[in-house]
Amino acid sequence: MAVQGRRKRTARRSRRVLVLHGPNLNLIGTREPAIYGRTTLARVDAQLRELGTELGVTVETFQSNSEGALVDRIQAARGTAAAIVINAGAYTHTSVAMRDALLAVELPVVEVHLSNTYKREAFRHRSLIADIAVGQVVGFGAESYLLGLRAAVGVLARGAS
Ligand code: DQA
Repeated sequence: MAVQGRRKRTARRSRRVLVLHGPNLNLIGTREPAIYGRTTLARVDAQLRELGTELGVTVETFQSNSEGALVDRIQAARGTAAAIVINAGAYTHTSVAMRDALLAVELPVVEVHLSNTYKREAFRHRSLIADIAVGQVVGFGAESYLLGLRAAVGVLARGAS
């Protein structure tokens, strides 16, 4: 019974991917569209859920402008999600707290960005997540998220992190 319960929990967790959006990403669609595109966050989330169904995973999405709320959500992923896809927005370049939370939950992480941060200002070239992520997808607009989800599901299928 206990073993079965554990197996069920693991099976559920292994089909769940958490997608996190950091600060100001609630504004995409209208925010600097030449850089971030015209797709709204609601549309990105809907596309992610659709693709998740196609790939056999449940996609859960969460956006916050608050570093602490993002840290809380990462912590809550332990034992409930199998992988994290994250666009930490500006916190990518500054947040030791988010990096530490990602390390603490020991889940495979895929870092995504709408813009190609390496073609932009120097302060965007440094990511505090890059070296703890399985990989990065940058510069493809909203498609970066979908590619990132595919990558995360591939990692889970291979049992790698
Ligand atoms: C971003 C890039 C960050 O440098 C920036 O602060 C963002 C968005 C991107 O998706 O391209 O808010 O993460």
